[in-house]
Amino acid sequence: MLSLDSEKIKSLLPEEYTGTEIIVFNVIDSTNSEAKRVFVKDGKDMLIVAGKQTAGRGRHGKSFYSPEETGIYMSLVVHADLPLNHAARATTAAAVAVCKAIEKLTDKKPEIKWVNDIFINNKKVCGILTEAVSTAGSRTADALIIGIGINVYTSDFPDEIKDIAGSLNENGLDKNSLIAEICKGVFGYAADLFSDGFIEEYRKRCFVIGKEISYERNGERFFATAVDIDENGGLIIKNTDGEISTLQSGEISIKMT
Ligand code: BTN
Repeated sequence: MLSLDSEKIKSLLPEEYTGTEIIVFNVIDSTNSEAKRVFVKDGKDMLIVAGKQTAGRGRHGKSFYSPEETGIYMSLVVHADLPLNHAARATTAAAVAVCKAIEKLTDKKPEIKWVNDIFINNKKVCGILTEAVSTAGSRTADALIIGIGINVYTSDFPDEIKDIAGSLNENGLDKNSLIAEICKGVFGYAADLFSDGFIEEYRKRCFVIGKEISYERNGERFFATAVDIDENGGLIIKNTDGEISTLQSGEISIKMT
């Protein structure tokens, strides 16, 4: 497998994205944390990639296992002028971009577990953590930091995640090519996050629809059936009493078969 190479990534991006600043680290605490540290308002869009993270962060305060060389740990800084309450659309779009990139460069069939986990063969191979940067008091994001972690050929997972985590298992895959393909997808969608083009693509790959799920609200667990994805990427559910509602965020559990 080729090592991370900013010039190679740049050479694979279309003309319109070659102004993107690309920074590659061998080791960093977290590419999302680094993106926040170096973020410049109205600056260039950025891609920060690392060969290893010592403090990779996941959603809901969890950590993201990021061992040396065997995965892709990347953060995209996208200057999208977006109301904060629409920032979730970026994570939905990023999930589609990652799936399409994997489909293009491998013969794998990735599926999405709402909201932003990507699974192959019932194992989580990718997680996405989007964070908005905004000026205090503003309702609009100055930028979105879209962090993507992919297990490319990680095989030894810690005990806490070894039953759920998996890998693309693509030893020959050039990480630079996969990173560039993901960038193209994310930047393409970010240019028009109000369009609904990616929602149908998301729906097609979301394996949760039709399944029995559970979720937590205020410390209580509720059970429901996942019915559909709405136009904002929310999960439409039917509760056990037949009531229809929509989850906008949070984590759901689903029985894997
Ligand atoms: C999750 O599974 O809950 C989201 C995981 C997101 C991990 C990526 S790796 C690159 C970026 N930097 C981080 O610290 N986290 C994200």
